[in-house]
Amino acid sequence: MGLYSIFSQLKKAESEAARLYSTLSTRIAHQYPDLAQFLKTLSEEEKIHEKRVEMFKNLFFEAHDFFLEKPDAESILAETLKKIEDVNTYFLQNADILTPQRIIQIIAELEKDMENKHHTLFVEVTDAGLKQLMENLESGDKAHSEGLNAFLARYT
Ligand SMILES: [Fe+2]
Repeated sequence: MGLYSIFSQLKKAESEAARLYSTLSTRIAHQYPDLAQFLKTLSEEEKIHEKRVEMFKNLFFEAHDFFLEKPDAESILAETLKKIEDVNTYFLQNADILTPQRIIQIIAELEKDMENKHHTLFVEVTDAGLKQLMENLESGDKAHSEGLNAFLARYT
């Protein structure tokens, strides 16, 4: 797949997640203002992750990493983007029946999935700088999952 495409896909996943959370936040702002505010924060953090990928891209553009040349890397990231799109579609199609609990559960699942994907990439890449980036992104997902679960506790 090559490093350039990998960075574009990594970046796209962060920016699409940011967009998903921000759109959803706007949509539920009236009904669930607290959750909307929380989603806005998540969205801002995804934008920070996106910038981080961009920064790493400039630093490690020359890094050679054999794993990233394999189709595995490509399919891992393609799956992530597909998942974000599916979640977006689900929210659009089920807007009327969504509860805050359900919204949080779905996003927490998405973050968990991204965490697993970033972890796989972290394990598989060999370049130290790229490893650091994946670890960074993984801990961002983890923080989001934890934040979401803590938020869920408010409703139960
Ligand atoms: Fe992220």
